[in-house]
Amino acid sequence: MNEIACDIIIFGAHGDLALRKLMPALYHLCQDGHLNEKHTILAVSREDLTTEEYCALLSQRFQDTFQDGSFQEDVFENFISHLRYISIDLTQKKEYKVLADVLHSSKNKERINYLSTAPSLFGTICQNLSNSGLIIKGSRVVLEKPIGNSLSSSQVINNEVAKYFKESEIFRIDHYLGKDTVQNILALRFSNMLFTPIWNAQYIDHIQITVAESVGLEGRSSYYNDYGAMRDMVQNHLLQLLCLITMEPPHSLDGDAVRDEKLKVIRSLRHMQAGELSTKSVRGQYKAGVSDGKSVSGFLEEDGGNEQSSTETFVALRVDIDNWRWNGVPMYLRTGKRMSQRYSEIVIDFKDIPHSIFPKGGECIDSNKLVIRLQPDESISMFIMNKVPGLNEGMRLQKVELDLNIPENSPRSPDAYEHLLLDVIRNNATLFMRRDEVEAAWVWADNILEGWDKQKIKVKPYMAGTDGPSAAIALIERDGRSWYEK
Ligand code: BG6
Repeated sequence: MNEIACDIIIFGAHGDLALRKLMPALYHLCQDGHLNEKHTILAVSREDLTTEEYCALLSQRFQDTFQDGSFQEDVFENFISHLRYISIDLTQKKEYKVLADVLHSSKNKERINYLSTAPSLFGTICQNLSNSGLIIKGSRVVLEKPIGNSLSSSQVINNEVAKYFKESEIFRIDHYLGKDTVQNILALRFSNMLFTPIWNAQYIDHIQITVAESVGLEGRSSYYNDYGAMRDMVQNHLLQLLCLITMEPPHSLDGDAVRDEKLKVIRSLRHMQAGELSTKSVRGQYKAGVSDGKSVSGFLEEDGGNEQSSTETFVALRVDIDNWRWNGVPMYLRTGKRMSQRYSEIVIDFKDIPHSIFPKGGECIDSNKLVIRLQPDESISMFIMNKVPGLNEGMRLQKVELDLNIPENSPRSPDAYEHLLLDVIRNNATLFMRRDEVEAAWVWADNILEGWDKQKIKVKPYMAGTDGPSAAIALIERDGRSWYEK
C-alpha cells in the first residue's frame, strides 16, 4: 500500500458524527486497501469505555447501517486491530499524558488530529496538544463546521488554532465538497469545451440550487436552535455549490488555485440592502405535518420543545453576483428541513431562443436546462427540444431528456467523508476551505442575518412535508420565473 503511514486521532469519537460518518468512512478506506498497514486510529472521547466496548458499539452500528452488504467480519477485525479507544477529558491538559504515552512509540508517521467536537473546544484541544508536545512535523488538524456562527466568532476560533498550526496544516471540512457529484461539477465544466462558451450571462437566464431535507432536527436541537438554516447550510454548503458552478476556470486543480477562484465569487456576492430583505429572502419554520408518511411534530415542539424559538429551518434567497460573467443572472438558493422529499439539485436554466420558426399549437418551446442532481440519486440531465417523430406530426416539438448519467456498473460511490479523509491523509487541501474563504462567507451571511434581526423579519410557517412557505414561491415568481419541477 502506497498511502502514507499515519496516526489518525478522532477527538469526539463517541459523538454522532464520528459514529455515523467518520468511523464508517475509515472502515471503508480500510476495506478498499487505502490505509497503510502501519496506520493507527485513536478514538478519543470523554465516555468511560474500554477499546473492546467501543469496538462492540461500532460493530453494532455498522451492521445496522450498512444496507449495501458492505459489512465484512474479516475487514472489521482488521479495522479494529488498528484501533484504540482512549477516554480523556479534553479540557484537562494533564489527561493528554495518556495520549502522549500511546503516541510515544509512533515513529516516522504523520499525525492527523480530527476535531469532531464543539468548536468552542478547538482552541483548547490545540493548546493542550501543543503543551503536551503532541504537535510534531507532519501533524495536521481537521476542523468540522461550524467554525463560529458569525465573522467575529469564526475569527476567534481561527486565531486560536493558528497559534499552533500553520494554514497549510489546517483542513476545514465542508463535506459537500467530498461528494462525488459535486466534484463532477469541476469535470463537467472544465473538461468539456461544449459548455465553456455558453457558461455566462449571455446564455444563462438563471441558476437554482435546492438542498431539501425530509428529516427534522435528529436530536440536535440545542445546536440547531443557535444556528438555523442560514448558518448551518447556506453559509457553507450552498455557497460552496454556488462557487463551483460560477467560478472562473482555475489555472490548475491545485488547492490554492481552486480556492482563489471560489474566494473571488464569494467576494463578488452583492450585499442585500435593508429594503430588499423582504422580497429577496424568506425565512421559514416548519409546523407539525406529515413527513415520509408519518405524522411529525413542528420545530417548536420537537426534541423537548423550542417554544420561543424564532430560528429558521428554511431559507430561500435571490442572490446576485456582481462580476462580468454573471451580471444580471439571478441565483436562487433554497434549503430546508422537513420538506416534502430529500434531494439536492442544481438547475442551470438557459435563455429562450430569440425567435421561434415553429408552428404554434404544439408544446411551447421550453428553455434548455442542465439539471445536476446530487442526491439521493446522482444524475446529470440536459433537457432539449426535439421533433415528435412520425409523418403525421409535422414539426410538432417535444421536450426530451438527455441522460448524462454515470454507467450503472460503476464502483460503489464513496461517502463524502471517505474522500475527504483520504485527501487529508494525502495532504491534499483542494477540497477544504481556506480561512479567507470561510471568513468572506461569514461577511456575506452576517449582512443578511443582521438585516433579518434589525428589520425583524419573521419566520414564515410551513407544514412539515411540504416545499416551504408560499413566500418562497412568490420570491422567484415575482421575477417571472418558477422553481424547477421535473
Ligand atoms: C450538515 C448539517 O452539515 O449537513 C445538517 O449540519 C444537515 O443539518 C447535513 O442535515 C446534510 O448533509 P447531507 O450530506 O445529508 O445532505
